[in-house]
Amino acid sequence: MTDLTIRQQEIIERILTLELVRVTERAAVSSARLRGRGDEKAADQAAVDAMRRELNRLPIDGRIVIGEGERDEAPMLFIGEEVGAKGGPKVDIAVDPLEGTTLCAKDMPGSIAVMAMAQAGSLLNAPDVYMDKIAVGPGYPKGVVDLDMTPEENIRSLAKAKGVKPAEICVLILDRPRHEALIAACRRAGASVRLIQDGDVAGVIYTTQPDYTHIDLYLGSGGAPEGVLAAGALRCVGGQMQGRLILDTQAKIERAATMGVKDPKRKYDMRDLASGDVVVAATGVTDSPLVRGVRFNRDMVETETVIYRSVTGTVRRISAEHREMGKFRLD
Ligand code: FBP
Repeated sequence: MTDLTIRQQEIIERILTLELVRVTERAAVSSARLRGRGDEKAADQAAVDAMRRELNRLPIDGRIVIGEGERDEAPMLFIGEEVGAKGGPKVDIAVDPLEGTTLCAKDMPGSIAVMAMAQAGSLLNAPDVYMDKIAVGPGYPKGVVDLDMTPEENIRSLAKAKGVKPAEICVLILDRPRHEALIAACRRAGASVRLIQDGDVAGVIYTTQPDYTHIDLYLGSGGAPEGVLAAGALRCVGGQMQGRLILDTQAKIERAATMGVKDPKRKYDMRDLASGDVVVAATGVTDSPLVRGVRFNRDMVETETVIYRSVTGTVRRISAEHREMGKFRLD
């Protein structure tokens, strides 16, 4: 590849950063039309359809590495599917068209439409299994927390680095029976625990704005694909994250192996999950501390999107008014 081609590629990637907004905006608006209808599948499908349509308009040679599942279980945005209008850079695409489907179906805070784009080969091809995760925001010494330390050790270490008592540390955890012991351990260590029903991509990102969200630490297991998306965003802001796939059956180990996971017990660092130049965009479906949800007004639809770009560490918030979408017009 000549220097000029590399330069051209950089320019295209820079322009594409803002193009991702259109993709997540459309997915968010389509699923938001179905907020509170109690139909997770329909809301998810609406987001998938819209996201795919917009992705195919982008001048990229994209390949879905994190998507809606395997080709046989997901007719669209399946792992391995090629997307884009071609003729552009070869990129990995990770999507979660509706992250927090239940939150959307119940019209509860915290659902987003989210995607990441990175140079081909730089996003972990994570199987759809659970991943143990730990994350903190920027400004701490490397290794301040670690997946292999106990919750008590992590909380003590983080409190020391922050210059506060453990009682002033707030840990965010998915509210699940599997986290009962973890929650108890955090509370024993003196920390407070905030529980969320769903949506740990946003949950991890909350650690990057502790002054606003009051969340210092993310702990617990959630989806591995969500872990890759969250790591992509965190990398742009300079936080720290580790993840380990939970491969607790032979079938999962074999499945992961087919996706390139050689060591089933490997502890992945943030850069192992998402390396290279990565861009992450998230548009609110329902309100959350990360982004406002979609507003349907008489003549236009309002969206809010946050975009992270690792090359520069830029975080942009884009509020948009979409007049052509009109009120409750089905697109
Ligand atoms: P969906 O949008 O696919 O429903 O995922 C929501 C979510 O809460 C994720 O944010 C999280 O990683 C995962 O589910 C946790 O899985 P589980 O609900 O099985 O505990």
